Amino acid sequence: MTEWQKTNWRNKPRVQMPEYTDAAALAKVEAQLSQYPPLVFAGEARRLKQHLGAAGRGEAFLLQGGDCAESFEQFSADAIRDTFKVMLQMAMVLTYGAKVPVVKVGRMAGQFAKPRSAPTEVVDGVELPSYRGDIINELEFTPEARIPNPAKMLQGYTQAAATLNLLRAFSTGGFADMSHVHAWTLGFTDEQDVQKYSEIADHIQDSIDFMTAAGITADTTHEFSSVEFYTSHESLLLEYEEALTRLDSTSGNWLAGSGHMIWIGDRTRQPDGAHVEFCRGVLNPIGLKCGPTTTAEDLKVLMSKLNPENEEGRLTLIARFGAGKAGEHLPRLVKAVKEEGAKVTWVCDPMHGNTIKSATGYKTRPFDSVLREVRDFFGVHQAEGTIPGGVHFEMTGLDVTECTGGVRAVTEEDLSDRYHTACDPRLNASQSLELAFLVAEELTNLRRDRKKRAAS
Ligand code: PEP
Ligand code: CO
Repeated sequence: MTEWQKTNWRNKPRVQMPEYTDAAALAKVEAQLSQYPPLVFAGEARRLKQHLGAAGRGEAFLLQGGDCAESFEQFSADAIRDTFKVMLQMAMVLTYGAKVPVVKVGRMAGQFAKPRSAPTEVVDGVELPSYRGDIINELEFTPEARIPNPAKMLQGYTQAAATLNLLRAFSTGGFADMSHVHAWTLGFTDEQDVQKYSEIADHIQDSIDFMTAAGITADTTHEFSSVEFYTSHESLLLEYEEALTRLDSTSGNWLAGSGHMIWIGDRTRQPDGAHVEFCRGVLNPIGLKCGPTTTAEDLKVLMSKLNPENEEGRLTLIARFGAGKAGEHLPRLVKAVKEEGAKVTWVCDPMHGNTIKSATGYKTRPFDSVLREVRDFFGVHQAEGTIPGGVHFEMTGLDVTECTGGVRAVTEEDLSDRYHTACDPRLNASQSLELAFLVAEELTNLRRDRKKRAAS
């Protein structure tokens, strides 16, 4: 095989990418971005890879979450803080269930470009190119807004840098103190409608009280007061990805400098396509979405291309089939992995196979379908003797009404109240935390089962 180059994807068939009309403007932006500092450091990507490897062995658990599409207009410190905050709360609850460290990865600081189901959109008889995310064009339904504009990549870079800066500050600046994080969760479970989760919350509080009594506090122990938080996004807009790719001088390998982890979407995973070509050559941990149309054969080819050295933590397979469908699709892929002896980390995305149109016209996802797919996923791994390594959610810390259901039920009629997503419907803060409690229960059962089996 000839040596990988960051530009080689340009010789491969590409899908889901914009056709920029102004080649000079594009070249100028690419040249500029190529001069800018990378957003992440290779050592961080390698460290995340180790954590993901641990998740693949059942010694850690991945929580990956954030917006479907980050928006330029809704960019604010409060939105970043609230999503970060609810992810920490979820991580604490999941740690309680899994009894292993939870690896926290945001769909943040770069999740701007979107694949679409159709290249154009028709409204009232008018046909325009589809919206492809704020880093490419604009949501507004006018011909001008839908023209892909390369200058948006510079704004995307700036927003990603500012987001990551704030996340790093929150991670180590005292905001992540375990006793504060849990106090927020206790506040949540105090409320009448969610009291059924208070037992788990009380157990966590007991553990914190015990540690505090033993002298393990934010003042004495670094782990008590700070967290590691990583970023991720779909590696879709390859001009942007290429321009931020840097040679890591310590290893001589290439780093996608746009974020810690990048993933390949369900629509761009063609084994001979541009996206796989780009991702195979960078050292970052890579996610690969696996959908109902992923065949065992495709998966085998993709695993050998994306992880030829069979390195632990390099490849995370993100299953997204839809509620009730994991039983039909996951076993053939698990079998393919076993046949190849491949090391992978299995993660469940219970969002993208469960999007429906509500009677009121909104794209939504029923909380029950999301939960059901997570349970299906755990069930298949239980039956196959393989390891459920994590979950991947579209969620926000804001109090939006985009997904229906949850204990504080959002109804179809409520959807119009606070429907703010630029793309797919997200779980709100309360739904996200509730889901964490329910996944923690699954993890607790799994652990008990394993113990029982080991003892018998
Ligand atoms: C996404 O994660 O936002 C997405 C588009 O997912 P998928 O590629 O699985 O459809
Ligand atoms: Co989405």
